[in-house]
Amino acid sequence: MTDARIVLLPGDGIGPEVVREARRVLEAIATHGGHRFTFEEHLIGGIALDETGDALPASTLEACRQADAIILGAVGGPRWDDPTAKTRPEDGLLGIRKGLGLFANLRPITVRDAFVDASPLRPERVAGVDILFIRELTGGIYFGDTIVSDDGTVVGDSMTYSVPEIERIVRVAAAAAARRKGRLTSVDKANVLAVSRLWRATVERVVEEEFPTVELEHVLVDAMAMYVVSRPRDFDVVVTGNLFGDILTDEASTLPGSLGLLPSASLGSEVPGLYEPVHGSAPDIAGRDLANPLATILSAAMALRHSLDLPREADLVERAVDRVLSAGLRTADIAAGGPAVGTTEMGRAVADAVA
Ligand code: IPM
Ligand code: MG
Repeated sequence: MTDARIVLLPGDGIGPEVVREARRVLEAIATHGGHRFTFEEHLIGGIALDETGDALPASTLEACRQADAIILGAVGGPRWDDPTAKTRPEDGLLGIRKGLGLFANLRPITVRDAFVDASPLRPERVAGVDILFIRELTGGIYFGDTIVSDDGTVVGDSMTYSVPEIERIVRVAAAAAARRKGRLTSVDKANVLAVSRLWRATVERVVEEEFPTVELEHVLVDAMAMYVVSRPRDFDVVVTGNLFGDILTDEASTLPGSLGLLPSASLGSEVPGLYEPVHGSAPDIAGRDLANPLATILSAAMALRHSLDLPREADLVERAVDRVLSAGLRTADIAAGGPAVGTTEMGRAVADAVA
């Protein structure tokens, strides 16, 4: 029996609806396995800005520190899209990543057989795609120094990485590769950037010394942008820095045909992991019971596996999702114009399937 404290950060837009369904599934898992999960909700993002003036209130960060796992919906929306604003909903997300030291962002991209026809790529190019992107999340240009000239007409952000920052992300990625097909691709821009040359040399050394069975290749980011669409089946684990990872994972997330099925995990050392769908807050469909909760439910499965040490329960949730999909249940985003169920009905179906 596992006792776990789970912090829910519903956030903005469709966040509250999809997080509610993930909670429903976790409750079903708890009942099924005799576990005790307690849930607490806290503010983040635009709603936190509205209510407290801070996209990441101190009380939220503190509650997250005490948690065993954190499940986040989404942040942001047009209401807060003021380019002159000093703080934005996204600051909540960046703040929690940095505040908890969640340096490793895992974004698995898998194309389920039932969806190959929904992919923008030809079926033979995407069938069987199974890539685990590991994006460094608390360093690089996202958190480098910003310089602004006195008159404000010249601005720069610096991309910085230290050897320890590179070593720890490579270890996560190489260990994942060793558990999978044993292939690691490191993406950089070493033909231009000094920071990438340090990245490449460090990756090379760590893999050689600590993961001799892992087969390593280096790919330049511009070439990788091509390979993601031209030969995505050739990759197993891909590790890269913060900005390149941001861009490549958005590109790769188009492969499965819908963002609605893609989970993610952000992990640190000795801190609770944060689990969230790859999709955003989708303000256009918020509050209408239209959103697909499966990405958040699959994120909850990752929480069971990576933070709560309940791998069998994680499998159970993943199989339950496969079962409801095989039974033909679809939310509108994946229904291809056919009959569709709402957010709640999809969540209930998965919860029933784990019970
Ligand atoms: C992501 C998002 C965030 C990022 C934004 C919302 C700050 O695009 O999680 O990929 O750039 O990291
Ligand atoms: Mg992004």
